Amino acid sequence: MKLIQLIYMSHLVGPDETSLGPILSSCVRRNTASGVTGMLLYANGRFLQVLEGEEDAVEKTYARICHDKRHHDALLLSREEISQRQFNNWSMGFRHMSEEDARHLPRFTPWFRFGLESNDLAGSSTVAREMLAFFNEEKV
Ligand SMILES: Cc1cc2nc3c(=O)[nH]c(=O)nc-3n(C[C@H](O)[C@H](O)[C@H](O)COP(=O)(O)O)c2cc1C
Repeated sequence: MKLIQLIYMSHLVGPDETSLGPILSSCVRRNTASGVTGMLLYANGRFLQVLEGEEDAVEKTYARICHDKRHHDALLLSREEISQRQFNNWSMGFRHMSEEDARHLPRFTPWFRFGLESNDLAGSSTVAREMLAFFNEEKV
């Protein structure tokens, strides 16, 4: 059994954030069934998500996500084999990042406030990993 971890970012379609609730409920339901775990962060119209689990389950989930019309421009930041899960507390942890978070986490302020340019994250997935790990450990 091969475990993989995949990180991508994307943009919400339009200004309407009411789709976040339904997105999250299908995440939890489907990931529980397929053994996929991870974390979904949202701020200012941008998503950052990590998915992990058995290769086949993660690939199928990501393929479905890429076809979802509620977001666009999915950009894969990282895909790698892992020996153990890092986000196994969550079928899908979720955080809608706020101004309050931005005040407490100056390191990530540009991303919270303005939306980090995709190119910044694509060049190095380090900041993305740090943010995801931070909220994972905070047990939001
Ligand atoms: C930003 C974003 C993240 C998503 N994450 C997941 C996910 O982790 N797992 C999943 O099964 N579906 C996820 N979805 C939803 C899928 O794209 C798709 O709508 C869903 O799997 C369809 O399931 P349903 O028809 O059974 O509700 C996500 C969608 C968006 C827009």
